[in-house]
Formats: sequence, structure tokens, C-alpha cells
Amino acid sequence: MKICMIGTGYVGLVSGTCFADLGNKVFCVDNDKVKINKLKNTVSPIYEPGLDDLIRNNYRAKRLNFTDDLEKAVKESQIIFICVGTPTKKGSNLVDLSQVYSVAKSISKHIKSYKIIVNKSTVPVTTGDQIEKIIGKKVKKSLFDVISNPEFLREGEAIRDFKYPDRIVIGSDNKKIFRKMQLLYEPLIKKGAKFFCTSRKGAELIKYASNAFLATKITFINEIANLCEATGINVEDISVGIGSDARIGSRFLRAGPAYGGSCFPKDTKGLVSIAEKFKTNLSIVKSVIKSNQNRKILLTKRISKIMNNKIKNKKVTVLGVTFKANTDDMRESSSLVLIPYLLKKGAIVKYHDPSGPKKEFKKSKKLKFERTLSKACQGCDLIIINTEWDEFKSIDFKKIVKKNSFKIYDMRNLYNPIELKKRNIKYYSVGRE
Ligand code: UDX
Repeated sequence: MKICMIGTGYVGLVSGTCFADLGNKVFCVDNDKVKINKLKNTVSPIYEPGLDDLIRNNYRAKRLNFTDDLEKAVKESQIIFICVGTPTKKGSNLVDLSQVYSVAKSISKHIKSYKIIVNKSTVPVTTGDQIEKIIGKKVKKSLFDVISNPEFLREGEAIRDFKYPDRIVIGSDNKKIFRKMQLLYEPLIKKGAKFFCTSRKGAELIKYASNAFLATKITFINEIANLCEATGINVEDISVGIGSDARIGSRFLRAGPAYGGSCFPKDTKGLVSIAEKFKTNLSIVKSVIKSNQNRKILLTKRISKIMNNKIKNKKVTVLGVTFKANTDDMRESSSLVLIPYLLKKGAIVKYHDPSGPKKEFKKSKKLKFERTLSKACQGCDLIIINTEWDEFKSIDFKKIVKKNSFKIYDMRNLYNPIELKKRNIKYYSVGRE
């Protein structure tokens, strides 16, 4: 099929490249000419393992095209995906839909034959109705349908999540559309993906409810980890013990620093604001947002306690500053709270991240980025492991720190406390002795 993805961020670029890899002819459209030129040189603007090769292969095979010419892409495509950003409006929980509405208006100028407009951006319930109204101002109803097809891609795993989805959700109020979308997704359905059809508003809510539930699950185990620390229980035993129940499921029960990223924080707030618009109180999601934010403060208190309130002039190394491993994304990362806290307390802070130095820390004078793990850890008093990159999973601490007394605060529970205790290493983690 001929399709176009409008917006070449995480969703549009990964989905477009993967659709091309399934044999479709894909236009990836963006109004950022610099980004489009980079893509034409098969340089991915986003850090996503495996994406560069996939872009290169499909671009060379002429299945994947990059353009800023929206008119041409819309005219040549049967299915048009809206994949632009829907950030949280500053100082509120509200979702900024300006990019979505502006794209809808642009599309409406170029529809001369029947098109399926697919909203893949995460949007509040009833946004599809608004998109339909905007396009309907210029295009007669028989020439288009607006549907919802939310994505469930995790950063760092996006290609795998696209190619092996648990489910494909299609939301439409016109049943005829489902068959067409089933054809597009046929290769994934054949490999076992569930193809689930619902109303357009249903699909819009599924996306938010899915992210909010995952955020709730993580926040739940993080709070249970607090209780485990108070009672000398290993939270990993609780994760296995409850996760073995098929009704609960074992995934997303890893206690950690606090969830971050571009989605959970945004989508939990977005869901609360949508519910408020419909006079519905989502008390659980509200408490998840609060608990997760408080957790970052809790972590600073834990660091203070580990350091016996002596942080001034201590050498602290933070391993991993992004919101999780296998990404370069800093949005809502716990390090954005932890590192300023340490600096304010007078610590001398270094950080190492496999995805490189971060602009967010450029201005911090007493903070240094080290390109290598050993340089980052050498001579430090405290190592804080903030993300679960593979290269952090088998460190010979004594060898790289090169001093006797140092401590480790492993916020991702990468190591076995008993093993490290045997080696006389002062080790602290989350929800464990
Ligand atoms: C999430 C959803 O998983 C994905 O389906 C949706 O499309 C976009 O939002 P993403 O934000 O990329 O994906 O990352 P994810 O792997 O879900 O992790 C989100 C946060 O939760 C990270 O900070 C991660 O460290 C944390 N997390 C995740 C935990 O603390 N424990 C877990 O067990 C899992």
C-alpha cells in the first residue's frame, strides 16, 4: 500500500520505516527541512537501536521516502497517518493539540480522492471528532474517514514493539475501514498480533488507559519497595510472587527510581485532564502522579541517609542520566532531580551515559561528563546507578574505583546484595536489604 506518516519523531519515523520494511511504499513527511535532509542521508535524528540500518535498507530499496512536500505525499497515499507531538501544555495537565489540528487543516487542502486519515498521536478522547470537523470544512464526507490507531512503542525497543505488538487497536465508527487496516497490518497479524477493533473514542481512551495503568503498576511496586526496605523483605520476591499470577503479569514490576520519559508523565496528566473535562475524578491516576513525583524527593533523602548526611565535597558518580537504558531521552528523568540536589549539597559530581553528554547539564559548573565508565568511577565516594544499560551490569567496582571505602546506590537492582556484601562493598539498592 501507499501510505504517508506526517511527523518524523519516535512514532512517525519508527512506524513509517517499519511499514516500509513490511513492503509498503511510505512517505515520511516533516516540515523541518534540516531533519528531512538528514534522513535523506539516512541519518536518524532519534536514538533508537537498529533504526539507522532499517532506514538505510528501506531508503535504498526506494520503499521509504522523506519529504517536506505534504501535498505530494497526501495525493499519492491512500492512508495518511498523523504522528505529530501532543505535549503537555506548560503549567497544566492539558494536552497541546495545536500540531494535530494544524496538520489536519493542511491535509484537508490536498484531499482530491478518498483517504483514510489515521491518528496515531496520543490524543484526548473525542480528538478524532475535532479532526473530522476540521477536514470536513474543506472536504466532502464521502472522501475521507478519520480513525484512531494508537501506538504502544517503548523507546529503545520501538522496532521490536512495532514488529511484534501484543495488539493492534483500530478505532473507527465506520466498520468498512477495519478490513482495509487489517490488510495493512496483515503481516503482523499473521505473526500472532491481536487485531482489535473498537469505536474511535474507545481507541483514543485505550492508549491513555494503557499508559496510565502501566504507570500505576510501576508506582505500586515502587511503594511496595518502600515497605520492603522498612521490613527487610526483598521486593524482587514480591514482584515474582505477585507477577506469577496471570491476572497481574510479571512485566513492569521492576522497582526503580521513578518512572520518567515522554509518555507516562504526559499521559497520566492528560488522562486526568480529559476525565475532568467529562466531570470524572480519576483519584488513582492522580495519586500515581503525586507518588511518582514524591519518589524523586524520597530518593534524595535516601542518598543523604546513605552518605550519613555528609555530601559536601564528596565525589559522586551517576551512571546513566536518561529516563531509562537504550535511549538518549532525558525527559522527566530522575537524574534531573538527583544531580541538582547533589550539586546543591556541595558534592563533586561526575556522570557517565553511553548515549553521551546531555545539554540539560551543560551549565552546571561542578558537574563533569566522563566518556568512560572507569574515568567516571575512579576515586569516587558514591556510585549511583540510575539506568540499566548493559555496560553497568558487571562492573568490577574495586578495580575501577581504586579506593577502599566507597558506596554504591543501585537504583535498578542490577547486582546481588549478598555477593557484594561478601566482597565488603557497601551496597544499597531499592526494596532490598
Ligand atoms: C511507554 C510505554 O511502555 C509504551 O507502550 C508507550 O507507547 C510509550 O510509553 P517508554 O516511556 O518509552 O514507553 O518506556 P517504558 O519502557 O515504558 O518505561 C517508562 C518508565 O518506566 C521508565 O522510566 C522506566 O525506567 C520505568 N519502568 C519501566 C520501571 O521503573 N519499572 C519497570 O518495570 C518498567
